Amino acid sequence: MSRHWPLHDLVLRTPRLELRPDDDPGLAELVEVAYAGVHPPGEMPFLVPWTEADPAYLGRGVLQYSWSQRAALAPERWKVQFLVRHEGAVIGMQSLEGVDFAITREVSTGSWLGMRHQGRGLGTEMRAAVLLFAFDHLGAVRARSDAFPDNHASHAVSARLGYRRDGTTTVVRRGRSLQDVRLLLDAPDLVRPPWTLDVEGVEGCRGLLGAA
Ligand SMILES: CC(C)(COP(=O)(O)OP(=O)(O)OC[C@H]1O[C@@H](n2cnc3c(N)ncnc32)[C@H](O)[C@@H]1OP(=O)(O)O)[C@@H](O)C(=O)NCCC(=O)NCCS
Repeated sequence: MSRHWPLHDLVLRTPRLELRPDDDPGLAELVEVAYAGVHPPGEMPFLVPWTEADPAYLGRGVLQYSWSQRAALAPERWKVQFLVRHEGAVIGMQSLEGVDFAITREVSTGSWLGMRHQGRGLGTEMRAAVLLFAFDHLGAVRARSDAFPDNHASHAVSARLGYRRDGTTTVVRRGRSLQDVRLLLDAPDLVRPPWTLDVEGVEGCRGLLGAA
């Protein structure tokens, strides 16, 4: 498995979290976290409103989306969905994405946590983990993110880690026009956490991610 899918061996460890690229048993846990709630019903933090899917199909949707990302992964265009575990249990997802990474050296991120795990600094810790991985282990020079103007937690995480605003993009949410806020972080501007990221299994992944 590892020879053909080196992401199988990749592990990022922070003081409280373990992040591993998704696998099926972990996705089954992630689906249960999604069913337990990701945000209050009146809010919508995502561009694709997947959390409002018919509950009969939400689980299948999470699985199929994750499989589609795994199936399409290539050095030129990749999205790694890290399952985030706390005390052994999956609590959310942190993605890291690269397009023509070998040339651009840019990554972008996305994330969510089950509601009951939010507001304890774990969102900051998991974003910091993939940023340290990208900058220090893959040679990324820049990271991008985006969030709706009313997503205070996501903006707070970005501000805490050193991102600056990089304009807006007009998007549609619930049939209304909205200015999605773009965020940009150059590697030297990262506000580094007081801990060290422990990384295992990166060697075999560099070629697959265009970072050789
Ligand atoms: C965005 C998210 C991943 C952040 O993770 P988190 O663990 O809740 O965030 P943290 O606890 O690390 O908090 C970071 C900051 O946000 C603040 N914060 C957290 N929840 C907040 C809320 N509901 N309102 C305002 N600020 C909030 C914290 O006080 C902290 O601020 P500080 O740095 O000034 O102390 C998480 O809230 C989440 O999954 N939200 C729903 C999905 C989502 O919005 N995904 C991102 C789409 S762009």
